[in-house]
Amino acid sequence: MIITEIQLAADLLQQGELVAIPTETVYGLAANGFDGSAIAKIYEVKNRPQFNPLILHSNSWEKFASWGLELPEEALKVADKFSPGPLTFVVPKSSKVPDIITAGHSSVAIRIPNHPVTLSLLSKLAFPLAAPSANLSGTVSPTKAIHVEMQLGILIGAVLEGGECHIGLESTIISFVNPKQPKLLRLGGLSIEEIEDTLGFKLEKDSLLNNENPQAPGMLSRHYAPKTPLVLGLPQNLETPIDNEDLVCIRFSQYLPEMPLKNQIILSEAGDLKEAAQKLFAAIRQADEMNKKLIVAEIFPEEHLGRAINDRLRRASLS
Ligand code: TXA
Ligand code: MG
Repeated sequence: MIITEIQLAADLLQQGELVAIPTETVYGLAANGFDGSAIAKIYEVKNRPQFNPLILHSNSWEKFASWGLELPEEALKVADKFSPGPLTFVVPKSSKVPDIITAGHSSVAIRIPNHPVTLSLLSKLAFPLAAPSANLSGTVSPTKAIHVEMQLGILIGAVLEGGECHIGLESTIISFVNPKQPKLLRLGGLSIEEIEDTLGFKLEKDSLLNNENPQAPGMLSRHYAPKTPLVLGLPQNLETPIDNEDLVCIRFSQYLPEMPLKNQIILSEAGDLKEAAQKLFAAIRQADEMNKKLIVAEIFPEEHLGRAINDRLRRASLS
């Protein structure tokens, strides 16, 4: 059920129900972050591995501090500039945070999302919201209420309408557990260039390279999988050559002249990475629904949001 009343969403959450909420990044599947049995439902509904911890959302750092979750001084500069926004901070956990949120880790992920509807909802609540992306585990994240309603509608209390997500990629995750050497755990909707410019030094990034033992345990290699196989770049040496009619291409800004136009999805005619990021997940869904043999995605420039776009496309691909 898609609803528009914020108070109804607040009441459902208070009663321990799951409500999908809009954020600027993607829709989240929210539960009362202090209610262990409500949180357990998130894992059940999403079919999410128990080892994958959740992000806590609230509308102010003061509230987080009242629950024993403080940002270190080093993080404040970044928080002041980019929060509310597409950025998540990993900090030491407090005793107030249930172990089911952190999957047993001694740190917890916290963020203030930048969406007027959800900020208004959070301001009515005396607890944080635990909210992973509102999709079945391993599938593409939702950027519209209808995406959630179609996949999870009958399993949850409600979907709170908030329009189309304007960032379209999940938040960038930085660990400040060692405040002197913050570490990038997930590329996302805020570019590392912007974060590093603000910090005045480079982030540690080693953890991104290690897919077998991910530091952000949600970063399993195949994650955003459409039903149709997806490859990055034009496929070489296919065992059986595929007819151009059987391909659908996801392109940055320009059509491929040799491909039928109707089988190409352009993410930003203006060549704008922000616009491309915002449209990416909906484009993967649209490509999948065309039921072709193969989705061929262009490799984006490896800078700014292009890095996060490539990251999601790699995880959506077979290799
Ligand atoms: O934009 C977003 O971050 C969205 C919206 C709904 O806020 N949420 C989201 O949640 O993407 P989810 O559950 O799909 O991804 C959360 C990521 C996972 O990769 C998880 O492993 C990581 O955050 N994470 C959570 N707690 C962590 C912790 N204590 N240490 C390291 N990684 C953590
Ligand atoms: Mg997710």
